[in-house]
Amino acid sequence: MKFVRFIMKNAALASVPKHIDHFSKFSPSPLSMKQFLDFGSINACEKTSFVFLRQELPVRLSNIMKEINLLPDKLLTTPSVQTVQSWYIQSLMEILEFLDKNPDDYKVLGEFVDALVTIRNRHNDVVPTMAEGIIEYKEVFPQDLMTNQNIQYFLDRFYMSRISIRMLINQHTLIFDGTLNPVHPNTIGSIDPHCQVGDVVQDAFNSAKMLCEQYYLRSPDLILQEICVKEKKNYPISIEYVPSHLYHMLFELFKNAMRATIETHDDSNNLPPIKVMVSLGDEDMSIKVSDKGGGVPFRRIENLFSYMYSTAPAPHIGERTRPPLAGFGYGLPISRLYAKYFQGDLQLYSMEGHGTDAVIYLKALSTDSIERLPVYNKTALKNYKVSQEADDWCIPSKEPLDLSSFY
Ligand SMILES: Nc1ncnc2c1ncn2[C@@H]1O[C@H](COP(=O)(O)OP(=O)(O)O)[C@@H](O)[C@H]1O
Ligand SMILES: [Mg+2]
Repeated sequence: MKFVRFIMKNAALASVPKHIDHFSKFSPSPLSMKQFLDFGSINACEKTSFVFLRQELPVRLSNIMKEINLLPDKLLTTPSVQTVQSWYIQSLMEILEFLDKNPDDYKVLGEFVDALVTIRNRHNDVVPTMAEGIIEYKEVFPQDLMTNQNIQYFLDRFYMSRISIRMLINQHTLIFDGTLNPVHPNTIGSIDPHCQVGDVVQDAFNSAKMLCEQYYLRSPDLILQEICVKEKKNYPISIEYVPSHLYHMLFELFKNAMRATIETHDDSNNLPPIKVMVSLGDEDMSIKVSDKGGGVPFRRIENLFSYMYSTAPAPHIGERTRPPLAGFGYGLPISRLYAKYFQGDLQLYSMEGHGTDAVIYLKALSTDSIERLPVYNKTALKNYKVSQEADDWCIPSKEPLDLSSFY
């Protein structure tokens, strides 16, 4: 019996590349926030959602699995990346088993919810495991610019794909597991149709404050201001959004702002407060987090969004007892992905010597908040193949030019 199972498992594994090839030929179908909401409220139909997901999840998984295969061999073969890849293969196979099942059978629908929960849990540690792979690789092989760019390009797409897959899984499992969310009965899956931005700001600030006080024994205050261009719109400002995504971004921005504020006002008794401005317009809902933490030189701003950069000492991987205030260098890049996921953005404006403004831009309308998804195609392929060419801008020489030789 064991032998038969072994043979069957291997046969299934052997067919994986074929399935990946097949499903990666489809482009993922981005959903809008409005579609997510409609899907989960008036029209909530588990069968429709099941039929959509058993096609869409393999498409999203296969599209990104194609890109994993394009990573440099030396990175692809690290134990961590191999582990991540095996999780993706396993999950893809588990979903494919539902392709020929009957959507009218309640038992099948129940099994599908269970399978999705298993898959979500399996992938919980993808970010730290992938990060471990990058660190292993970085330690063994000297960095060249091209590899850095490739890894940045890949990770932005890989983590964005992951955010989107988890969003789909969360919506289905939360809406169809047959229970109401006792804490937030009005949410639709993970979406709050009346997400009060000021409340999320306050929550994220409080959590960062607690962490900050554990490390530095003090923390700056918060000043929160809300602005709304349309008089008829009601305060406090609310949007249709995923509160956990917004919380994630704000929590990261607050940790950074607090660390910068305290480290630049080391010997002062008064800490300048962190100011937050929330503004709702016709098109954008923007949140600005301003600190007086000394700022960052302009030249370094783009580096801050690199997965390979942090100025804090790296915390030990697997250090789960106490969440670190800083150190993995993933705070800003992942937060920017959350903002971009629904067509927003996250930008830093800094004045070295003074402080930093971090601005989160989100779409004010749920019809504009549409998933932004990577697609595997020729353009993506080309991005992995760019060879390192000479710069088309002059590189300034370090030595001053001796003009006397021109006379
Ligand atoms: N508000 C800020 N003021 C000054 N420096 C900042 C600020 N936000 C981020 N930084 C710099 O950007 C780096 C990267 O931030 P982040 O991505 O959150 O990773 P981490 O905090 O783990 O280092 C930080 O190490 C810090 O040097
Ligand atoms: Mg940080």
